[in-house]
Amino acid sequence: MSKLPVKKTKILFVCLGNICRSPSAHTIFQYLVDTKGLSDKYEIDSAGILSVHQGEMADARMRKHADKRGYIITTRSRPVDPVADFEHYDMIIGMDNNNIKSLRSMTVVDDKIDKISKMTDYCTLFKETEIPDPYYGGFEGFEYVLDLLEDACNGLLLELEEV
Ligand code: 4NP
Repeated sequence: MSKLPVKKTKILFVCLGNICRSPSAHTIFQYLVDTKGLSDKYEIDSAGILSVHQGEMADARMRKHADKRGYIITTRSRPVDPVADFEHYDMIIGMDNNNIKSLRSMTVVDDKIDKISKMTDYCTLFKETEIPDPYYGGFEGFEYVLDLLEDACNGLLLELEEV
């Protein structure tokens, strides 16, 4: 008997530059989904509000810290497409309040606004309300971003798989 195609849940993670936080969220969530045997249920990508880093690999510091935890980040930065991304993805998840504001203002069709949420909404251990930008800080910032993202990715998957 042939298998029915699964309707994938499509998720786009968004930060400012798409070289630190959203590539990490993308990679961690993909890792979780793959290790739980759920790969065919999800389509995952990441993008940035800015286009200045378009085509670049993720920040070398972010990749180094993620690598130490077993996450190999291979993404290339790209900007959010306000039309195609809001049409294609079911969930558009920003990392901080500014990302949410930018995403809301770039939405072309109003009813797509409901697709936007914030990454920290899915945290179950940490009480933060934003994933802080680690770009201009020290190594602790990158580790903390990974701590928060691991918590949020676990919470997000739990929420999606429990419904
Ligand atoms: P991200 O970090 O939004 O987590 O990728 C940043 C990367 C680059 C810049 C800002 C934040 N930037 O200004 O170039």
